[in-house]
Amino acid sequence: MTTTTHDQHFVRYIELADEIAMSKIAAQLAQVFTSGVVYLVGGLGAGKTTFTRAWLHAKGHIGAVKSPTYTLVEPYQIKGQSVFHFDLYRLNDPFELELMGIRDYLDDRNALLLIEWPQKGEPVIPAADLQLTLQIADDDITRQLKIEALSPFGIAALTDLKCDSLQKHIPESIGLEAHK
Ligand SMILES: Nc1ncnc2c1ncn2[C@@H]1O[C@H](COP(=O)(O)OP(=O)(O)OP(=O)(O)O)[C@@H](O)[C@H]1O
Ligand SMILES: [Mg+2]
Repeated sequence: MTTTTHDQHFVRYIELADEIAMSKIAAQLAQVFTSGVVYLVGGLGAGKTTFTRAWLHAKGHIGAVKSPTYTLVEPYQIKGQSVFHFDLYRLNDPFELELMGIRDYLDDRNALLLIEWPQKGEPVIPAADLQLTLQIADDDITRQLKIEALSPFGIAALTDLKCDSLQKHIPESIGLEAHK
């Protein structure tokens, strides 16, 4: 863990009371972060796919966003941009990604990659610009969201992110340990 993790410029903690609140923050992120790599971290049912669905709809995707649990990746073309939604939960070996042609996706500098279960894809997947960690609160509905900026792109996006519900208090419960 580095000290920047606790710097207000590089991390945001937001409490999401329901799916509507989640959709709103996903739409705000979609505006300030248009291309690059986003990791979505959190346990089963934490809301990673729900977050991605709201993000893609906010970008202008019309239609379903299904979980790529078995296909590992679902590609989209949204307003001329390539968007790739990964779910690596069932990936047995990260090097399978090479066989799937992940390098081709990475060649597209304008692409947006949203990656669920990124820890299963290391070290083959590209480094994240943003890492989102979702945790289910005791009421089973509220989600605690931690947004970390891990590159200059990510920092620029987080600096531009306006959110009313931004929490100054850093809860101890959301640690980096969860995805290491
Ligand atoms: N505040 C909330 N925000 C998001 N989802 C919520 C919220 N409250 C309840 N839910 C429900 O939690 C579930 C989240 O499921 P989702 O598939 O998005 O999780 P996931 O993190 O992608 O899980 P997996 O690791 O299995 O892919 C959905 O059924 C959603 O309706
Ligand atoms: Mg999912």
